[in-house]
Amino acid sequence: MNILGIETSCDETSGAVLCNGQVRSNVVSSQRCHTLFGGVVPELASREHERLIVSIVDAAITEANITKNELDVIAATAGPGLIGAVMVGLCFAQGMAYALRIPFIPVNHIEAHIFSPFIEDSRSHPAPEGAFVSLTASGGHTLLSVVEPDLTYNVIGRTLDDAAGEAFDKTGKMLGLPYPAGPVIDKLSERGDPAFYLFPQALTSHSQTSKNYHGNFDFSFSGLKTSVLTWLQKQTPAIIDSHKADIAASIQYAIVSVLVEKTIACARSRKVKAVSIAGGVSANSALRKSMKEACDKAGMTLHVPGTVYSTDNAAMIATLASLKLSRGMRAERCYNIAPYASFAAGRRKA
Ligand code: KG4
Ligand code: ZN
Repeated sequence: MNILGIETSCDETSGAVLCNGQVRSNVVSSQRCHTLFGGVVPELASREHERLIVSIVDAAITEANITKNELDVIAATAGPGLIGAVMVGLCFAQGMAYALRIPFIPVNHIEAHIFSPFIEDSRSHPAPEGAFVSLTASGGHTLLSVVEPDLTYNVIGRTLDDAAGEAFDKTGKMLGLPYPAGPVIDKLSERGDPAFYLFPQALTSHSQTSKNYHGNFDFSFSGLKTSVLTWLQKQTPAIIDSHKADIAASIQYAIVSVLVEKTIACARSRKVKAVSIAGGVSANSALRKSMKEACDKAGMTLHVPGTVYSTDNAAMIATLASLKLSRGMRAERCYNIAPYASFAAGRRKA
């Protein structure tokens, strides 16, 4: 079974080929045109996908050492994401499947992140076998879900405002770091002191409103953003410059400690012994390290995809299509799937 996956929901154009469940290629092109603007410009993102989609898909098929006529199924992100960006990959994929007379499978991008620990060649640990708690943290979403062995899942916590990736990117921008600031903060923090300044950890046992904590698995990062902004406004440029790494490490600590505490508390409360982290923020080295330590301490196993599969990629799209097919989903020759922008809209369609 050869599956072509296509991903264009934000600023990565990606194509991947899965042959009998194994990743044979995963070509990802990250758009650089947004750097000047400090964030993703939707119209530019769509145009870049349009410019690159043919060559990326060609490269993925060539690298997998097959021809397009050997494809059995095509899968693509149908949402959530920037609607114009999603449309480029979705329309291309459906057009290609129609031309080849093979089935098409629409994939929910966030679900693909949730199931990314199942990507065959990314397993430093085996994929979770029983139920697991998934922390899915990206630029647009922060979700805690309990995933059952039959791969159904319930979202039991989400961000009330900014996503964790957004918190990295926006506080990084305040520090003068380029977009996306998440990986830059990660790198800078290696030589910084996380205890330099204690930024707020909202809705946790450390927050001033800790009574909100019990049984509450939601997140809130907008207070952190305000706190970083007001704190920076009180500092001199010289202090900010000389302590950039310490400030980055303090911001990272505030975000990571919340993510770890809530995830472990959620797994404990649901009596689940396995945890996974996915989405772009799961590439963060401090999150990986702290979550591993917390899981070891709590007697839980941690399942993480390789870093290349944390950020947006098409291998996760093809993998979710493959998982669905292996669990009895019928692939249809249906080529009129519409894109959706929000996670909630995608779940209503499912
Ligand atoms: O999953 P993803 O590639 O795209 C979305 O679906 O949003 O996630 C992108 C987000 C960005 O906010 C980026 O700053 C963040 O993931 N990110 C990181 C790291 N690598 C990517 N955040 C912290 N540390 C990293 N190493
Ligand atoms: Zn994503």
